[in-house]
Amino acid sequence: MVEDNDMQREENAQIPVQNNPADDTARSVPESASERPLAPMPEGQHGARIGGVFESVSRGVAFDTDVHDGMVDKDCVIEIENFNLWYGSAQALYDNSMGVPKGEVTALIGPSGCGKSTLLRCVNRMNDLIPTVTTKGNMRLSGDDIYGAGVDVIELRKRIGMVFQKPNPFPMSIYENIVYPLRIDGLRDKAILDEVVEKSLRGAGLWEEVKDRLDDNALRLSGGQQQRLCIGRAIAGEPEILLLDEPCSALDPIATGRIEDLIQELKGHYSILIVTHNMQQAQRASDYVAFMYLGRMVEFGPTQDLFVNPHLKETEDYVTGRFG
Ligand SMILES: Nc1ncnc2c1ncn2[C@@H]1O[C@H](COP(=O)(O)OP(=O)(O)O)[C@@H](O)[C@H]1O
Ligand SMILES: [Mg+2]
Repeated sequence: MVEDNDMQREENAQIPVQNNPADDTARSVPESASERPLAPMPEGQHGARIGGVFESVSRGVAFDTDVHDGMVDKDCVIEIENFNLWYGSAQALYDNSMGVPKGEVTALIGPSGCGKSTLLRCVNRMNDLIPTVTTKGNMRLSGDDIYGAGVDVIELRKRIGMVFQKPNPFPMSIYENIVYPLRIDGLRDKAILDEVVEKSLRGAGLWEEVKDRLDDNALRLSGGQQQRLCIGRAIAGEPEILLLDEPCSALDPIATGRIEDLIQELKGHYSILIVTHNMQQAQRASDYVAFMYLGRMVEFGPTQDLFVNPHLKETEDYVTGRFG
Protein backbone atom coordinates (compact mmCIF):
# COMPACT_ATOMS: atom_id res chain seq x y z
CA MET A 1 0.00 0.00 0.00
CA VAL A 2 2.79 2.33 0.90
CA GLU A 3 4.37 1.49 -2.42
CA ASP A 4 1.11 2.27 -4.21
CA ASN A 5 0.94 5.62 -2.48
CA ASP A 6 4.48 6.51 -3.33
CA MET A 7 4.09 5.43 -6.91
CA GLN A 8 0.90 7.42 -7.18
CA ARG A 9 2.43 10.53 -5.67
CA GLU A 10 5.37 10.28 -8.04
CA GLU A 11 3.08 9.84 -11.00
CA ASN A 12 0.86 12.71 -9.91
CA ALA A 13 3.83 15.00 -9.46
CA GLN A 14 4.50 14.68 -13.17
CA ILE A 15 0.94 15.11 -14.36
CA PRO A 16 -0.29 18.62 -15.02
CA VAL A 17 -3.99 18.78 -14.17
CA GLN A 18 -6.82 20.81 -15.60
CA ASN A 19 -10.42 21.30 -14.57
CA ASN A 20 -12.85 19.00 -16.25
CA PRO A 21 -15.85 20.98 -17.48
CA ALA A 22 -18.00 17.83 -17.66
CA ASP A 23 -17.77 17.27 -13.94
CA ASP A 24 -18.39 19.94 -11.34
CA THR A 25 -16.98 17.80 -8.52
CA ALA A 26 -13.60 19.17 -9.64
CA ARG A 27 -12.06 15.96 -10.83
CA SER A 28 -9.13 16.62 -13.07
CA VAL A 29 -7.96 15.11 -16.32
CA PRO A 30 -4.30 14.26 -16.76
CA GLU A 31 -3.21 15.68 -20.11
CA SER A 32 -1.42 12.45 -20.83
CA ALA A 33 -4.79 10.64 -20.86
CA SER A 34 -5.59 12.01 -24.30
CA GLU A 35 -2.36 10.56 -25.66
CA ARG A 36 -3.14 7.03 -24.57
CA PRO A 37 -4.86 4.70 -27.03
CA LEU A 38 -8.31 3.84 -25.70
CA ALA A 39 -10.62 0.98 -26.60
CA PRO A 40 -13.31 2.08 -29.07
CA MET A 41 -16.39 3.34 -27.26
CA PRO A 42 -19.99 2.79 -28.28
CA GLU A 43 -21.73 5.83 -29.76
CA GLY A 44 -23.56 8.07 -27.37
CA GLN A 45 -21.24 7.23 -24.50
CA HIS A 46 -18.75 9.49 -22.80
CA GLY A 47 -16.34 11.05 -25.25
CA ALA A 48 -13.34 10.78 -22.94
CA ARG A 49 -12.62 9.06 -19.69
CA ILE A 50 -12.25 11.14 -16.60
CA GLY A 51 -9.14 10.86 -14.48
CA GLY A 52 -7.91 12.32 -11.22
CA VAL A 53 -9.62 10.06 -8.71
CA PHE A 54 -6.37 8.61 -7.40
CA GLU A 55 -5.07 12.13 -6.98
CA SER A 56 -8.16 12.99 -4.92
CA VAL A 57 -7.56 9.86 -2.84
CA SER A 58 -3.91 10.72 -2.21
CA ARG A 59 -4.93 14.27 -1.20
CA GLY A 60 -7.70 12.90 1.04
CA VAL A 61 -10.39 14.74 -0.93
CA ALA A 62 -13.83 13.10 -1.00
CA PHE A 63 -15.34 12.11 -4.34
CA ASP A 64 -18.52 10.31 -5.39
CA THR A 65 -18.41 6.77 -6.69
CA ASP A 66 -19.03 6.71 -10.43
CA VAL A 67 -22.18 4.59 -10.51
CA HIS A 68 -23.30 3.55 -13.98
CA ASP A 69 -26.89 4.21 -15.05
CA GLY A 70 -27.42 0.44 -15.32
CA MET A 71 -27.27 0.14 -11.52
CA VAL A 72 -30.24 2.36 -10.80
CA ASP A 73 -33.52 0.81 -9.58
CA LYS A 74 -32.07 -2.64 -8.99
CA ASP A 75 -33.78 -4.86 -6.46
CA CYS A 76 -30.91 -5.36 -4.00
CA VAL A 77 -30.45 -8.02 -1.34
CA ILE A 78 -27.61 -6.04 0.28
CA GLU A 79 -27.56 -2.27 0.49
CA ILE A 80 -24.41 -0.54 1.70
CA GLU A 81 -24.66 3.15 2.58
CA ASN A 82 -21.75 5.45 3.43
CA PHE A 83 -19.94 2.68 5.23
CA ASN A 84 -16.64 3.43 6.99
CA LEU A 85 -14.34 1.12 8.94
CA TRP A 86 -11.25 1.67 11.07
CA TYR A 87 -8.71 -0.87 12.35
CA GLY A 88 -7.68 1.07 15.47
CA SER A 89 -6.84 4.52 14.12
CA ALA A 90 -6.19 3.32 10.56
CA GLN A 91 -9.17 3.86 8.30
CA ALA A 92 -9.65 0.98 5.84
CA LEU A 93 -13.06 1.85 4.29
CA TYR A 94 -14.21 5.34 3.32
CA ASP A 95 -17.87 6.09 2.64
CA ASN A 96 -18.51 2.94 0.64
CA SER A 97 -21.95 2.79 -0.97
CA MET A 98 -23.27 0.07 -3.26
CA GLY A 99 -26.06 -2.45 -3.68
CA VAL A 100 -25.86 -6.16 -4.42
CA PRO A 101 -28.62 -7.02 -6.91
CA LYS A 102 -30.80 -10.00 -6.07
CA GLY A 103 -30.18 -13.29 -7.88
CA GLU A 104 -27.06 -12.02 -9.68
CA VAL A 105 -23.30 -12.00 -9.23
CA THR A 106 -21.47 -8.86 -8.10
CA ALA A 107 -17.67 -8.79 -8.01
CA LEU A 108 -15.38 -6.60 -5.88
CA ILE A 109 -12.09 -5.89 -7.62
CA GLY A 110 -9.10 -3.71 -6.82
CA PRO A 111 -5.41 -3.92 -5.87
CA SER A 112 -4.31 -5.99 -2.90
CA GLY A 113 -5.01 -4.23 0.39
CA CYS A 114 -7.75 -1.94 -1.00
CA GLY A 115 -10.37 -3.29 1.41
CA LYS A 116 -12.26 -5.95 -0.56
CA SER A 117 -12.13 -8.62 2.15
CA THR A 118 -12.78 -6.03 4.84
CA LEU A 119 -15.97 -4.88 3.09
CA LEU A 120 -17.09 -8.47 2.47
CA ARG A 121 -16.53 -9.39 6.13
CA CYS A 122 -18.62 -6.40 7.21
CA VAL A 123 -21.69 -7.94 5.57
CA ASN A 124 -21.83 -10.81 8.08
CA ARG A 125 -20.24 -8.74 10.85
CA MET A 126 -17.18 -10.94 10.99
CA ASN A 127 -15.11 -7.84 11.73
CA ASP A 128 -16.89 -7.71 15.10
CA LEU A 129 -14.44 -10.42 16.13
CA ILE A 130 -11.54 -7.94 15.88
CA PRO A 131 -11.62 -5.80 19.06
CA THR A 132 -9.98 -2.71 17.50
CA VAL A 133 -12.52 -2.39 14.69
CA THR A 134 -14.99 0.50 14.65
CA THR A 135 -17.53 1.22 11.93
CA LYS A 136 -19.84 4.01 10.84
CA GLY A 137 -22.59 3.80 8.25
CA ASN A 138 -25.35 1.41 7.28
CA MET A 139 -25.76 -1.97 5.67
CA ARG A 140 -29.05 -3.77 5.15
CA LEU A 141 -29.85 -7.40 4.35
CA SER A 142 -33.22 -7.72 2.60
CA GLY A 143 -34.15 -4.39 4.17
CA ASP A 144 -33.08 -5.32 7.73
CA ASP A 145 -30.34 -3.27 9.40
CA ILE A 146 -27.14 -5.30 9.79
CA TYR A 147 -25.60 -2.81 12.23
CA GLY A 148 -28.79 -1.72 14.02
CA ALA A 149 -28.97 -1.74 17.80
CA GLY A 150 -30.11 -5.09 19.13
CA VAL A 151 -29.37 -7.10 15.98
CA ASP A 152 -28.86 -10.78 16.85
CA VAL A 153 -25.56 -11.45 15.05
CA ILE A 154 -25.94 -15.25 15.27
CA GLU A 155 -29.35 -15.06 13.57
CA LEU A 156 -27.98 -12.60 11.01
CA ARG A 157 -25.13 -14.92 10.08
CA LYS A 158 -27.56 -17.79 9.47
CA ARG A 159 -29.00 -15.74 6.62
CA ILE A 160 -25.55 -15.38 5.02
CA GLY A 161 -23.21 -18.02 3.56
CA MET A 162 -19.47 -17.38 3.37
CA VAL A 163 -16.61 -19.15 1.60
CA PHE A 164 -12.96 -18.22 2.09
CA GLN A 165 -9.78 -18.26 0.00
CA LYS A 166 -8.50 -21.50 1.42
CA PRO A 167 -10.95 -24.40 1.59
CA ASN A 168 -11.68 -24.98 5.29
CA PRO A 169 -13.73 -28.16 5.69
CA PHE A 170 -14.18 -29.34 9.27
CA PRO A 171 -12.13 -32.45 10.16
CA MET A 172 -15.18 -34.71 10.00
CA SER A 173 -17.17 -36.64 7.38
CA ILE A 174 -18.49 -35.10 4.17
CA TYR A 175 -22.03 -35.63 5.48
CA GLU A 176 -21.33 -34.00 8.85
CA ASN A 177 -19.65 -31.01 7.18
CA ILE A 178 -22.93 -30.16 5.47
CA VAL A 179 -25.26 -30.76 8.41
CA TYR A 180 -23.01 -29.42 11.17
CA PRO A 181 -24.57 -25.92 11.25
CA LEU A 182 -28.05 -27.48 11.21
CA ARG A 183 -27.19 -29.84 14.07
CA ILE A 184 -25.89 -26.89 16.08
CA ASP A 185 -29.28 -25.35 15.42
CA GLY A 186 -30.96 -28.41 16.95
CA LEU A 187 -32.13 -30.21 13.81
CA ARG A 188 -32.20 -33.99 14.48
CA ASP A 189 -34.57 -35.50 11.88
CA LYS A 190 -32.39 -37.88 9.82
CA ALA A 191 -34.67 -37.77 6.76
CA ILE A 192 -34.50 -33.98 6.65
CA LEU A 193 -30.72 -33.98 7.20
CA ASP A 194 -30.28 -36.54 4.39
CA GLU A 195 -32.34 -34.37 2.11
CA VAL A 196 -30.31 -31.26 2.93
CA VAL A 197 -27.05 -33.14 2.30
CA GLU A 198 -28.14 -34.31 -1.15
CA LYS A 199 -29.63 -30.97 -2.14
CA SER A 200 -26.60 -28.98 -0.96
CA LEU A 201 -24.06 -31.32 -2.56
CA ARG A 202 -26.04 -31.31 -5.81
CA GLY A 203 -26.16 -27.52 -5.59
CA ALA A 204 -22.40 -27.47 -5.11
CA GLY A 205 -21.82 -29.79 -8.08
CA LEU A 206 -20.27 -32.45 -5.83
CA TRP A 207 -23.03 -35.04 -5.31
CA GLU A 208 -22.09 -37.43 -8.13
CA GLU A 209 -18.46 -37.51 -6.96
CA VAL A 210 -19.14 -38.22 -3.29
CA LYS A 211 -22.59 -39.80 -2.94
CA ASP A 212 -21.08 -43.25 -2.27
CA ARG A 213 -18.62 -42.04 0.36
CA LEU A 214 -20.48 -39.52 2.45
CA ASP A 215 -18.87 -40.93 5.59
CA ASP A 216 -15.32 -40.35 4.35
CA ASN A 217 -13.33 -37.65 6.07
CA ALA A 218 -13.71 -34.39 4.10
CA LEU A 219 -9.99 -33.72 4.42
CA ARG A 220 -9.36 -36.60 1.99
CA LEU A 221 -11.07 -34.71 -0.84
CA SER A 222 -9.00 -32.75 -3.40
CA GLY A 223 -8.65 -28.98 -2.93
CA GLY A 224 -11.29 -28.23 -5.56
CA GLN A 225 -13.70 -30.76 -4.06
CA GLN A 226 -13.09 -29.31 -0.60
CA GLN A 227 -13.95 -25.84 -1.86
CA ARG A 228 -17.16 -27.15 -3.48
CA LEU A 229 -17.96 -28.86 -0.17
CA CYS A 230 -17.53 -25.50 1.58
CA ILE A 231 -19.91 -23.95 -0.95
CA GLY A 232 -22.32 -26.81 -0.22
CA ARG A 233 -22.04 -26.09 3.51
CA ALA A 234 -22.59 -22.38 2.86
CA ILE A 235 -25.80 -22.98 0.87
CA ALA A 236 -27.20 -25.70 3.18
CA GLY A 237 -29.08 -23.10 5.21
CA GLU A 238 -30.56 -21.45 2.05
CA PRO A 239 -28.80 -18.12 2.70
CA GLU A 240 -30.07 -14.85 1.25
CA ILE A 241 -26.56 -13.94 0.11
CA LEU A 242 -23.44 -15.94 -0.61
CA LEU A 243 -20.13 -14.19 0.11
CA LEU A 244 -17.09 -15.61 -1.69
CA ASP A 245 -13.62 -14.24 -0.85
CA GLU A 246 -11.27 -15.21 -3.69
CA PRO A 247 -12.67 -18.76 -3.62
CA CYS A 248 -10.40 -20.00 -6.42
CA SER A 249 -7.08 -18.47 -5.40
CA ALA A 250 -5.80 -21.76 -3.92
CA LEU A 251 -7.09 -23.92 -6.79
CA ASP A 252 -5.67 -25.16 -10.09
CA PRO A 253 -7.21 -23.92 -13.38
CA ILE A 254 -9.50 -26.94 -13.79
CA ALA A 255 -10.89 -26.71 -10.25
CA THR A 256 -11.21 -22.94 -10.79
CA GLY A 257 -13.24 -23.53 -13.96
CA ARG A 258 -15.59 -25.83 -12.07
CA ILE A 259 -16.20 -23.21 -9.36
CA GLU A 260 -16.82 -20.55 -12.01
CA ASP A 261 -19.35 -22.85 -13.73
CA LEU A 262 -20.91 -23.50 -10.36
CA ILE A 263 -21.30 -19.77 -9.71
CA GLN A 264 -23.27 -19.53 -12.96
CA GLU A 265 -25.50 -22.42 -11.86
CA LEU A 266 -26.09 -20.95 -8.40
CA LYS A 267 -27.03 -17.50 -9.56
CA GLY A 268 -30.70 -16.88 -10.03
CA HIS A 269 -31.47 -18.92 -6.95
CA TYR A 270 -28.72 -17.24 -4.93
CA SER A 271 -27.34 -13.71 -4.82
CA ILE A 272 -23.56 -13.69 -4.84
CA LEU A 273 -20.93 -11.14 -3.79
CA ILE A 274 -17.46 -12.33 -4.82
CA VAL A 275 -14.01 -10.87 -4.25
CA THR A 276 -11.54 -11.66 -7.00
CA HIS A 277 -8.16 -10.36 -8.06
CA ASN A 278 -8.51 -12.17 -11.35
CA MET A 279 -9.83 -9.85 -14.06
CA GLN A 280 -10.76 -12.70 -16.41
CA GLN A 281 -12.73 -14.30 -13.60
CA ALA A 282 -14.55 -11.06 -12.81
CA GLN A 283 -15.40 -10.71 -16.49
CA ARG A 284 -16.53 -14.32 -16.90
CA ALA A 285 -18.36 -14.84 -13.65
CA SER A 286 -19.99 -11.55 -12.65
CA ASP A 287 -22.91 -9.40 -13.77
CA TYR A 288 -21.72 -6.29 -11.93
CA VAL A 289 -18.32 -5.05 -10.82
CA ALA A 290 -17.25 -2.58 -8.16
CA PHE A 291 -13.69 -1.26 -8.46
CA MET A 292 -12.12 -0.32 -5.12
CA TYR A 293 -8.92 1.61 -4.44
CA LEU A 294 -7.38 2.41 -1.04
CA GLY A 295 -10.66 1.86 0.78
CA ARG A 296 -12.75 3.88 -1.67
CA MET A 297 -15.42 2.67 -4.05
CA VAL A 298 -14.25 4.15 -7.34
CA GLU A 299 -16.58 2.87 -10.07
CA PHE A 300 -19.56 0.50 -10.01
CA GLY A 301 -21.44 -0.81 -13.00
CA PRO A 302 -22.53 -3.72 -15.18
CA THR A 303 -19.48 -5.91 -15.83
CA GLN A 304 -19.49 -5.50 -19.58
CA ASP A 305 -19.71 -1.68 -19.27
CA LEU A 306 -16.97 -1.51 -16.70
CA PHE A 307 -14.58 -3.59 -18.78
CA VAL A 308 -15.43 -2.30 -22.25
CA ASN A 309 -16.41 1.27 -21.48
CA PRO A 310 -15.22 2.30 -18.03
CA HIS A 311 -16.04 5.93 -17.21
CA LEU A 312 -12.83 6.53 -15.33
CA LYS A 313 -9.31 6.33 -16.59
CA GLU A 314 -8.21 4.72 -13.30
CA THR A 315 -10.68 1.88 -13.79
CA GLU A 316 -9.48 1.36 -17.33
CA ASP A 317 -5.87 1.28 -16.20
CA TYR A 318 -6.70 -1.33 -13.58
CA VAL A 319 -8.89 -3.61 -15.69
CA THR A 320 -6.39 -3.54 -18.54
CA GLY A 321 -3.58 -4.46 -16.17
CA ARG A 322 -1.63 -1.18 -16.34
CA PHE A 323 -1.30 -1.24 -12.55
CA GLY A 324 -2.24 -3.32 -9.53
N1 LIG B 1 -7.15 -7.57 11.09
C1 LIG B 1 -6.62 -6.44 10.62
N2 LIG B 1 -6.04 -5.56 11.45
C2 LIG B 1 -5.50 -4.40 10.98
N3 LIG B 1 -5.50 -4.04 9.68
C3 LIG B 1 -6.07 -4.88 8.81
C4 LIG B 1 -6.66 -6.13 9.21
N4 LIG B 1 -7.15 -6.75 8.11
C5 LIG B 1 -6.87 -5.93 7.07
N5 LIG B 1 -6.23 -4.83 7.48
C6 LIG B 1 -5.78 -3.70 6.63
O1 LIG B 1 -6.92 -3.16 5.97
C7 LIG B 1 -6.63 -2.86 4.62
C8 LIG B 1 -7.55 -3.64 3.70
O2 LIG B 1 -7.23 -5.03 3.80
P1 LIG B 1 -8.07 -6.15 3.08
O3 LIG B 1 -9.52 -5.89 3.32
O4 LIG B 1 -7.55 -7.46 3.51
O5 LIG B 1 -7.74 -5.87 1.53
P2 LIG B 1 -7.95 -6.78 0.24
O6 LIG B 1 -8.87 -7.89 0.59
O7 LIG B 1 -8.49 -5.84 -0.79
O8 LIG B 1 -6.58 -7.28 -0.16
C9 LIG B 1 -5.16 -3.18 4.42
O9 LIG B 1 -4.42 -2.00 4.63
C10 LIG B 1 -4.87 -4.18 5.51
O10 LIG B 1 -3.53 -4.12 5.91
MG1 LIG C 1 -8.58 -9.97 0.54
